[in-house]
Amino acid sequence: MTEAVYLGVDLGTSGLRGLLVRENGNVIGSAEAACSARHPQFGWSEQDPAQWLAAFDAVMQKLRAAHPKELAALGGIGLSGHMHGATLLDSADTVLRPCILWNDTRASQQAAMLDAMPDMRAITGNIVFPGFTAPKLMWVEAHEPEIFAKTAKVLLPKDYLRLWLTGEHVSDMSDSAGTSWMDVGARAWSDKALELTHMRAEQMPRLVEGSAAGGMLRAELRGNWGISGPVVVAGGAGDNAAAACGAGCFAEGSGFVSLGTSGVLLAARDQFAPDAATAVHTFCHAVPARWYQMGVILAATDCLNWLARNLGRSAGDLATALPDAANGPGNVMFLPYLSGERTPHNNAQLRGALVGLDVADTPEQLTQAVMEGVCYALRDSLEALFVTGARLNQVLAVGGGTRSRFWLETLASTLGLPLSLPAGGEFGAALGAARLAIAASGAAGLDEIMQTPPIAETIDPRADLAERYAAGYARYRALYPALSDDSALRAG
Ligand code: XUL
Repeated sequence: MTEAVYLGVDLGTSGLRGLLVRENGNVIGSAEAACSARHPQFGWSEQDPAQWLAAFDAVMQKLRAAHPKELAALGGIGLSGHMHGATLLDSADTVLRPCILWNDTRASQQAAMLDAMPDMRAITGNIVFPGFTAPKLMWVEAHEPEIFAKTAKVLLPKDYLRLWLTGEHVSDMSDSAGTSWMDVGARAWSDKALELTHMRAEQMPRLVEGSAAGGMLRAELRGNWGISGPVVVAGGAGDNAAAACGAGCFAEGSGFVSLGTSGVLLAARDQFAPDAATAVHTFCHAVPARWYQMGVILAATDCLNWLARNLGRSAGDLATALPDAANGPGNVMFLPYLSGERTPHNNAQLRGALVGLDVADTPEQLTQAVMEGVCYALRDSLEALFVTGARLNQVLAVGGGTRSRFWLETLASTLGLPLSLPAGGEFGAALGAARLAIAASGAAGLDEIMQTPPIAETIDPRADLAERYAAGYARYRALYPALSDDSALRAG
């Protein structure tokens, strides 16, 4: 008998990636197809769901061309995707408008209004952030009432892919936890939260655990892609929970820090211990009876990209111009709020700053300031996580920013945490999704599947610099009140 293979799919904002693995997790191959977002107005960010289907099909055709025999033996698909997006469907499952994405801030007012309603934080365990799904529907109700009236179902982006794959309206716990419609402790839709936004339970998909089956691949698609047997589609996960599956982060004390476009500091929890006031996100994990908490900063490598653009250089150039070893904070201070901030400030209007500039400052000093500012912002997230009771002993460091040794050393010393670097290979959301597919097919148990990746190296905090970074962090904290006072700093 041919050994079954599994596909992990990660729907990202800029592209969809498919990763084909064997039952033991070994990689067979991967393929990608691009997606793009549109920003028709300030603060808006939208994507046409038809793009996701086309990207999925393109990835399947590429995988079929490269690995026809293996793809024919596909036994399961796991889906991961960018969270919080609102895909609105009518009663015939026709898409009613472009999906409003996670980084769209048009619903800031509605989010603040909903967040202030008694019970919302208690039910959902989270602040209602402007990017979350429920306030988006309030915006649609106010600005596009005909579309609101026709909305029969609201699906998260990866769940729209699933509808096409299986014909079923299903979501998983981890992704649904970011809608503001879920009782995250009970892992169920909250009638009360739905009612507060004039929504009904029948507009929500059926919920399953990420590691459970969420439908079967339609025969027509199996035929299109040359797949011979039945294919289970797992519940899957929101991208951060999927990344935690890929990195084997499940036990208390384990977590990861991601230096991607945005930055994430995630801690796995075996209990539901929300503290919304910290602006930490408390979401269901992709496996039963587990949760995770994370601080999210909206701009991490995005800050370096911003600096590079404005200096007419590449981000890689700027990073390699710095020494490998951290050397203590520079004199320039950068506050990385280029797109507002989630943790710990929950302030979509907030914007960044460079402070302490000197006539002699160079691009290198500005690069150092930008990297340090991002590290201080992640320290804010760490402090917020501590308030919730989360503990982190050591974290895995992932994302494009980890290519800079200087940034990694600075981060380890600013957080006071050892950072483990995975040895090459796969450990991201696509692998996490593939692991959920293996779990849903019953091929192996969770403990066996969700291993931590081999570690190439661990970067320890520099004891000799600890005090200097602590002083730098105190200076950073002291600057926030001036930035949050709109009238003092912003035109108009
Ligand atoms: C999480 C979040 C992002 C998106 C896009 O709350 O907004 O991680 O899922 O990656």
